[in-house]
Formats: sequence, structure tokens, C-alpha cells
Amino acid sequence: MSNLKKAILVVAGVVVVGVVGAFAYGSQATATKDIGPGAFNLAAPSAQLIEKGRYLAVAADCVACHTAPKGQPFAGGLSMATPIGAIYSSNITPDKTTGIGNYSLNDFDRAVRHGIAPSGATLYPAMPYPSYAKVTDDDMRALYAYFMHGVQPVTQANRGPDIHWPLSMNWPLAIWRKTYAPAVEPLVLSKYQSDALARGAYLVQSLGHCGACHTPRAATMQELAQDESNPAYLAGGPVIDGWLAVNLRSNPAGGLGRWTEQDIIDTLSKARNAHSAVVGSPMADVVSHSTQEMSPEDLKSIAVYLKSLTPGPDEKARYAASDATAKALKAGREENRGAQLYLDNCAACHRTDATSNAKVFPALAGNPSVLSDDPTSLIRLVLAGSKLPSTKGAPSALGMPGFAWRLSDEEAAQLVTFVRQSWGNQASAPDAGQVAKIRKQVDAEAEVQH
Ligand code: HEC
Ligand code: HEC
Ligand code: HEC
Repeated sequence: MSNLKKAILVVAGVVVVGVVGAFAYGSQATATKDIGPGAFNLAAPSAQLIEKGRYLAVAADCVACHTAPKGQPFAGGLSMATPIGAIYSSNITPDKTTGIGNYSLNDFDRAVRHGIAPSGATLYPAMPYPSYAKVTDDDMRALYAYFMHGVQPVTQANRGPDIHWPLSMNWPLAIWRKTYAPAVEPLVLSKYQSDALARGAYLVQSLGHCGACHTPRAATMQELAQDESNPAYLAGGPVIDGWLAVNLRSNPAGGLGRWTEQDIIDTLSKARNAHSAVVGSPMADVVSHSTQEMSPEDLKSIAVYLKSLTPGPDEKARYAASDATAKALKAGREENRGAQLYLDNCAACHRTDATSNAKVFPALAGNPSVLSDDPTSLIRLVLAGSKLPSTKGAPSALGMPGFAWRLSDEEAAQLVTFVRQSWGNQASAPDAGQVAKIRKQVDAEAEVQH
């Protein structure tokens, strides 16, 4: 049973034994402050304010979750798996019957920053309101102007969650929100030493909600940290749709310690840099819908902020550049099974030296996705392959084929071990059992798609 399911059942259990206080606490309405229009005329906003809101919605990637495959932008209906059943994102177009056309600024603010729908129901935290809680009042006003006046209304009814009673009860979720989602508090920007650092902190922590994927979570599902004051912040998140969100702190092996600011800017704008490529759909979607559309100044600020993060918790993996493997492979001296499998399946593109090849084939030596203590992404990549997203800055949709059909679990484990322990990479070896588990998931997903 998943931890969230357990947590919710435990909370439900508390009531069964008669402690009705929890119910009363969960059901109590949360009072929030009405921010009002400030200096703006939100009934007839200026084109400039609407444009600002559009940009902020891009930086917040609202479209990624609020658009179904082949659906109209922002009309909702995207299915999102949670440990207790699927939920569906809402229609946030200004349609007055099925969308948010009748939402006041206050209704909108309560949903986006506090996670409370106009009915009083708590939203599932798949909507990243714990991050959006840090969006400024003025940015909320601009977002509202955009959603009311810059988005095409679409009539499409919301779909309720596929979650059954008792897990469907809303008040345990309200307790979760009151306990773990911070009350809206503006980010104190003056604590950052430069404007770029402050802007980067704001974009990463609030709109970009990078921590929603890249920060580890507690058993009760809240992110372990909301800012850099805690070394768990962005230290590598849970596995999302099969891909591990890598450590974005300065750890030298599985983190961004050896990346330059320009490497980060390139990755966010082109999905690749001189030695690494984005793999898997979660980050590919972030780049194609959101970061590639951001201004060069904002991307630079994000890079400055990420480079300011100290290394997170100790990692087991190490990296020390070495040409021993390349020499041995060229001389035919690498005789273990993993090396043979590498030569047969991988070297045509990644070469024997595993450095980056024509900026198309990423380096495997010293690559954080290869060196993460948790090898999930690398195993998945070898089995299922990946498609490098095409971006405006680097148009092409090159891919890496999957090898599930050619490699047994044992062979894939030997190959992944070779990749994690060659060219100066020093990371743990997965076993065939780990490969078998991931193969099962990959097969199940392929089944759903056909
Ligand atoms: C990571 C996915 C994700 C992102 C990003 C996201 N949302 Fe949501 N949002 C959801 C889901 C899922 C729900 C439905 C939650 C529920 O039903 O409890 C939701 C609900 C909402 C609601 C409540 C609608 C209602 O029925 O009352 C509003 C308003 C909203 N989102 C606006 C936004 C805006 C604006 C942005 C960008 C600033 C955004 N969302 C970004 C997933 C997301
Ligand atoms: C929906 C989840 C999600 C969100 C939100 C997200 N990421 Fe990621 N990110 C991932 C995953 C999964 C990976 C691992 C894929 C990989 O290594 O290429 C990743 C990888 C990365 C990488 C390394 C890419 C590489 O070439 O190895 C960087 C840098 C990064 N993310 C930065 C960010 C920043 C900055 C934000 C916020 C603006 C962000 N991410 C938001 C899921 C996410
Ligand atoms: C046909 C050429 C080709 C072959 C063969 C190939 N790859 Fe790749 N590989 C690529 C491309 C292209 C990418 C970038 C894919 C993406 O970004 O989605 C990639 C990405 C990767 C990455 C991710 C690097 C990063 O920056 O995150 C790893 C690790 C990797 N390959 C390992 C392997 C291994 C191991 C094999 C052999 C089983 C292999 N590749 C075979 C073309 C290839």
C-alpha cells in the first residue's frame, strides 16, 4: 500500500475510534485575505497586463497540466495518477458554465495560492499550490487578467476523480493542506545578494515549481523543503512517470556541480547542452511548454540561483575523469559481458570514449543522469529509449531506441553496471531484479498506449 494511502487511512481511522475533533478541524473553512485589484483595472485590463499574465502562465507551466492530449489549451481533463486513484485537471478557460469565467480575483487566488475551490473543497496537491503560494499579489492579478481576458473560453465539463469513498472524503485532504501547505507568505527577496539571485529564487520556488518534482517528499507526500535553507531542497525528487528528477544542487556526481551557468541555460532553452540531454517526458514537457519560452534574463537568473545551491545530502556516486575505459575498449582489452554489450548496442552513437558526440549524442562520462544513486532513469532509458524534444533553439527530434527486445534482465543489468562504472564513473550496480521491475512498468505503459 502506498504511503499516501496509508496516511489517509490512518487519518480516517482516527475518526473511527471516535476522535471527531479531526473532522471538525478538517471541515473548518480557511479564512484568506482578499487581495483586491491593487493598482489595476481588472474589469478592463490593459494589453500590457494581459501579456504579463501570459508570460507568467508560461513560467508556471499551467498549460502542461490543464490541457488533455489533443485537447483545447487550458480546457482541463488531463488524467493524473495519484496513489489513491486518477484525478483530472480542471477547465481553467473563462467559460462561464464549465470553466472559471465566474471566478472573482479572490476565488482565483484562493484556488491557485491556497488550494481551495470556491465550494470550499481542498484541491488535490497535484495542483502545485504549495509552490504557487509564493507568487506575489501583483503577479496573481496579472495571471487573473490573462485567464479572464487572454484565454479562449472552451465549454468542456470537468471530470470528477476516480477515487472511491472513503478515500474520496475531502476533509483529510484539508487537514493535509492545513498541516503541510504553507500559508501564503511573500518570498523575502532582500535576503538574496543580487537581483539575479532573487529573481531566480522567485522563479524556481514559486512559478516554476521545480521543487514539486526535484525535491524529495516525506511519507505524507509534502516536499521536504521549500527553499535553499534546507539541503534537501531540489536534492533529487521522486520518480515521476518512470523518470527520476535529478539532483539540481552542486553535488559533483549526480548533481549539477560540474555544470556551468551556460550549461543550465542551454538545457532549459534547447533541452540539451554540450554534454547532456534531457531524457523522458516530464522534463521534456517543462522545456517545450515553459522554459524555452522564457526570456534570456530569466533563464540566466535561474542558472545563477541553481549554481548558488550548496551540495545536498551525501551521494555515494563519484566521478573522476579517466581515459582507461576508452583505451581498453579500443584495444579490445575490455572483456566483461557489460563491455561487449556496450560495443554491440551503444558505441555506434556514444563512441568508445563516451564523451559528447556532435552535440547530438550526450556524454555518458560524468553525466548526472548516469550517476544518480538511484539508477531508475538509466535502466528505463536502456529498455524504452527516449525522444530528445525538438525546441526552437535546436529543432530536431532525434531519439535513442529502446533495447528491451534485445537484452535480458541480466544483460541490461550488466550493461548498466558497465556504463555506471566506466570512464571515471563510480556508481552502484543495479541487479536483474531491479531491471525486471522497470521492464514490467514499461510493458504495462506500452499496453495502455496500444
Ligand atoms: C502539475 C500540474 C498542474 C499545474 C502546473 C497547474 N495546475 Fe491547476 N490544477 C491541477 C489539478 C490536477 C487540478 C484539480 C485539482 C482537484 O480537482 O482537486 C487543478 C485545479 C486548478 C484550479 C481550480 C479549478 C476549480 O475547479 O476550482 C485552478 C483555478 C487552477 N488549477 C489554476 C491553475 C493555474 C492558473 C496554473 C498556473 C499558474 C495551474 N493551475 C497549474 C494541476 C495543475
Ligand atoms: C514535472 C516534473 C518536473 C518539473 C516541474 C521540473 N523538472 Fe527538471 N527534470 C525532471 C526529470 C524527471 C528530470 C530527469 C530527466 C533528465 O535527467 O534528463 C529532470 C531533469 C532536469 C535537469 C537535468 C537535465 C539533464 O540534461 O540531465 C535540469 C537542469 C532540470 N531538470 C531543471 C529544472 C528546473 C530549473 C525546473 C523548474 C523551472 C524543473 N527542472 C522542473 C522533472 C521535472
Ligand atoms: C542510435 C543512436 C543511439 C544508440 C545506439 C544509443 N543511444 Fe543513448 N542516446 C542517443 C540520443 C540521441 C540520446 C538523447 C536522447 C534524449 O535526449 O531523449 C541518448 C541519450 C542517452 C543517455 C542520456 C544522457 C543524458 O544526458 O541524460 C544515456 C545514459 C544513454 N543514451 C545511454 C545509452 C546506452 C547505454 C546505449 C546502449 C544500450 C545507448 N545509449 C544507445 C542515441 C543513441
